[in-house]
Amino acid sequence: MPLDKSEYVSSIWKDDIFKDKVVFCTGGNGSICSAQVRALVHLGANACIVGRNVEKTEGMAKDIATARPGSKVLGLGAVDVRSMESLEKAVATCIKELGRIDFCIAGAAGNFLAPMAQLSANAFKTVIDIDLIGSYNCAKACLPHLIAAAKEFPTAKTTTPSGRIIFISATLHYGGTPLQTHAVAAKAGVDALSSQVCIEYGPLGVTSNVISPGPIGGTEGMDRLAKKVQPGKEPWKTIPSGRWGGVKDISDATVYLFSDAANYVNGEVLVVDGGAWRTAQTGRDFQYPDFLIQGGGVEGVGGMKKAKGDSKL
Ligand code: COA
Repeated sequence: MPLDKSEYVSSIWKDDIFKDKVVFCTGGNGSICSAQVRALVHLGANACIVGRNVEKTEGMAKDIATARPGSKVLGLGAVDVRSMESLEKAVATCIKELGRIDFCIAGAAGNFLAPMAQLSANAFKTVIDIDLIGSYNCAKACLPHLIAAAKEFPTAKTTTPSGRIIFISATLHYGGTPLQTHAVAAKAGVDALSSQVCIEYGPLGVTSNVISPGPIGGTEGMDRLAKKVQPGKEPWKTIPSGRWGGVKDISDATVYLFSDAANYVNGEVLVVDGGAWRTAQTGRDFQYPDFLIQGGGVEGVGGMKKAKGDSKL
């Protein structure tokens, strides 16, 4: 379904900043990655998205192409990021059809909620294979083309940089998350992988960064991982920005990292979560942020501030 631009990218970016660029994206038929690619296509890029489901991936590619008349968007289905061979074939098709790869988004992920006690070794391995090994395979298959593109467009001399990779991670592993042992381990690995790409490929002109989305409303991830909202128990009230994120928040971060504005940003983790992970452990008993907005203090705990003159040492 064609989307209004305001749903997937801000109006502050120049329309043709990614003219003649090509982005390769795994997980491109998902809610977040499709919005990222749609934003880049709107701003001039052509794209190749890959996914396991043929119909869904081909349909999403056609849909993304509506973001800019004349754009080329390939949708390659039956591609499993767990298979290096499958990804290498997809990258070869992208090069044959679109000529180059300037940007890569390693976005494919799989997740579900399960306590470790109910997580079989194969279930754990499945998520590691999709999220971590899949990200590695994606980077490995794209890097020769990113290096070639970076050489062709040295960032110091042009406002159209190339040779950039973004890994989609999460904030789950910062403090730990129950029912997410598999994803926590995988995403910690993804963050480390991105740092390594920065360190070893930075000298060749490539930048590697992570975007870690917080809870993004209306996505498959939220359908799978969050309970339905109960009246009076709005979970976004624990988020400093006071709302779920939108896919546009992630697209804008993507445009920034691939743009000329982020030439010296390398090996960084850009958390786009409204501050959510910082209050993830906040006790609901404090009804954050109400007591802050209303100017109240902390009540009902032993260590309260004493009134002046009230010295019970
Ligand atoms: N709880 C516990 N174990 C689960 C599970 C759940 N909810 N869902 C799957 N598993 C286990 C399976 O039982 C199997 O283990 P076993 O062989 O010991 O029984 C293992 O995980 C692999 O499952 P399978 O369905 O064969 O793997 P798959 O490759 O077809 O699917 C998943 C991969 C499990 C990650 C699936 O959820 C998926 O395809 N997700 C893609 C989309 C997605 O997750 N999007 C959200 C992104 S945030």
